[in-house]
Amino acid sequence: MKSNLIEFGKYKLKTSKDVFSPRVDIEIFPKAIKKLLKSYNKIIELGTGTGAISISIAKNFENIDIIATDINQTALTIAKYNAEMNKVSDKIKFINSNWFSKIDAKKEKFDFIITNPPYLSKKNKIYYSELIDPDNSLYSDNDGLADIQKIIKKSVHYLKDNSYLIIEHSHYQTLLIKEYAYNNNLKYIESIKDDLGFNRISIFSNIF
Ligand SMILES: C[S@@+](CC[C@H](N)C(=O)[O-])C[C@H]1O[C@@H](n2cnc3c(N)ncnc32)[C@H](O)[C@@H]1O
Repeated sequence: MKSNLIEFGKYKLKTSKDVFSPRVDIEIFPKAIKKLLKSYNKIIELGTGTGAISISIAKNFENIDIIATDINQTALTIAKYNAEMNKVSDKIKFINSNWFSKIDAKKEKFDFIITNPPYLSKKNKIYYSELIDPDNSLYSDNDGLADIQKIIKKSVHYLKDNSYLIIEHSHYQTLLIKEYAYNNNLKYIESIKDDLGFNRISIFSNIF
């Protein structure tokens, strides 16, 4: 496995051409959860890639335990290495899982479900030809919405009472995702914009 070491904000991360390379704005996730944190927080990150988001959350907050999942075993090997290199492996457990498939909702529920899933439309692939990340980390069926919809549909079963789902998506998907979440018993709280002023993540809750 050919890999590189990159400086990533306050952290060093190993990356590889076989794994999605984290983008500069992943800190949007720790900023979003900061004001919502409880005294103790159980978090699941779906599709962790190099582990960048989970590692930044583990570095920023004390009172948390994270399960970080991916379907790509190479990603999980790299993410584990990165967690050890950044001295947060005691806070993150890595699991190979197709979204929630290996997580038993009867045994485990979460205060936060966070995810940056593949959300680009396969129809628009030609516009993203410069991206070198693996296709299954970028593109999703149904105009980019299929994986987001799978995650939303299951999330309500995995949330503790008064808890949150935070999803990264394209700005033009905001309304469709809001509607889909509402139809799956999740209330829209807010969207947070990226540095260019576009909606980048949306926060939902099972608090009605
Ligand atoms: C856009 S990348 C995000 C990676 C990382 N969270 C980040 O922001 O740097 C999406 C990730 O979801 C993973 N993924 C794709 N389909 C999946 C599935 N069905 N179950 C779990 N993970 C999946 C990919 O392997 C990839 O690591």
